[in-house]
Amino acid sequence: MDKLIIEGGVPLQGSIQVSGAKNAALPILMACLLAEGKVSLTNVPRLADIRTSLKLLNILGCETTFEDNAATSLCTGLKPEAPYDLVKTMRASVLCLGPLLARLGEAKVALPGGCAIGARPVDLHLRGFERMGAEFEITEGYIKGRCKNGLKGARIALDFPTVGGTENILMAAALADGETEIENAAREPEVVDLANFLNACGAKITGQGTSVLNVKGVSSLIGCDYRIMPDRIEAGTYMVAAAITGGELEILDCPFQDLDAVSYKLREMGVWLQEEDNYVLVRRANGLLENVDVTTLPHPGYPTDMQAQLMALMCFGTGIGTIEEKIFENRFMHVLELVRLGADIRLKGRTAMVKGVGSLKGAPVMASDLRASASLVLAGLAAEGTTTIERIYHLDRGYENIEAKLSGVGARIKRVAG
Ligand code: EPZ
Repeated sequence: MDKLIIEGGVPLQGSIQVSGAKNAALPILMACLLAEGKVSLTNVPRLADIRTSLKLLNILGCETTFEDNAATSLCTGLKPEAPYDLVKTMRASVLCLGPLLARLGEAKVALPGGCAIGARPVDLHLRGFERMGAEFEITEGYIKGRCKNGLKGARIALDFPTVGGTENILMAAALADGETEIENAAREPEVVDLANFLNACGAKITGQGTSVLNVKGVSSLIGCDYRIMPDRIEAGTYMVAAAITGGELEILDCPFQDLDAVSYKLREMGVWLQEEDNYVLVRRANGLLENVDVTTLPHPGYPTDMQAQLMALMCFGTGIGTIEEKIFENRFMHVLELVRLGADIRLKGRTAMVKGVGSLKGAPVMASDLRASASLVLAGLAAEGTTTIERIYHLDRGYENIEAKLSGVGARIKRVAG
């Protein structure tokens, strides 16, 4: 397995280009199952999960292409089954459930299982589909769904603003018979991007970005050309890279308007952020970083996908900061690895107390999930000496060309085949 070797201590300087958003591209690729014509997507990040999604589309009966950062999909004959050996590698595969029920009236999708950061059930997805007339049985590790008379529009009130659940139900509702209202819907920008894509295919969705979505079902959706939004979590990760190394970066194509909670916390810590017309300039305001308290919440609250990155930064701040993780039950796998680098972090339930130690020492560490691996890269960039990060396949799921982008602004980082 590949690993990354980082010689820390270099203040990063220069410009970094943000790629397309993984968490917008994944649901939009599954939404291609709903379109009767060809879909052409641009600004698609070259990531492992994107390639997995395209493989799933092929299995489900779509012809696809993926060249540079452009992908196309044309459904030529849909099939209802998403197999376990693919779904187990990518939980987001469960997002094919809604489109298959909508197009075929049936679906057989492997239960995604848990992952490092939590159980991540899909009960809210299924309850939403049941409100629309679908019936499910879960046998031999598969979710088997069917809706004999087609999906009907319904009023659905989600117990929790689940991102994937909102996306799955939204895709099904686009082709349901009648009107659907989703209350307590997720407000994440990636959900907005999916809704905008569906509307470009002829759907009738309003309310995206608010917690109430309204969908007037249509009989069919056409193909369209669509550009994936830039990745706000990748952009936020590189903002932290500028601050943690004491350098200055221009983050190009940065969706700054989608990062309010992140920029608020970074400014509170003493990071200086200046939005220009097509980039955001980031550096420390006066050299010192002051630790803060943060709680991860559904959008527009502080994003859980930026929790591990902020924790790495806090290791270099003064004072004690607390991080309360309220979205996932086990998203502190990076803590013990940061402690191996010399961090002073104590866990109490779902709260981490981070005491700034001013510096870290490089050491061998192991990635456990996507954002944990990002926090280890950030810590390694600022640590004294050499940090070796194992199992970086986790990182490759969400960060396109990360070592090229970081080397381009001065980082001493290289990938070694393991
Ligand atoms: C999406 O995951 C993202 N993934 C995650 O990003 C992100 O962390 C998460 O939303 C929260 O923002 C993609 O978009 C592909 P949820 P998702 O459904 O849809 C519970 C990354 O690092 N829940 O909002 O799985 C669930 O267990 C990844 O890029 C239920 O209980 O998130 C979790 O505790 C990691 N029942 C919480 O809700 C359900 O039916 C949030 O889950 C659904 C969810």
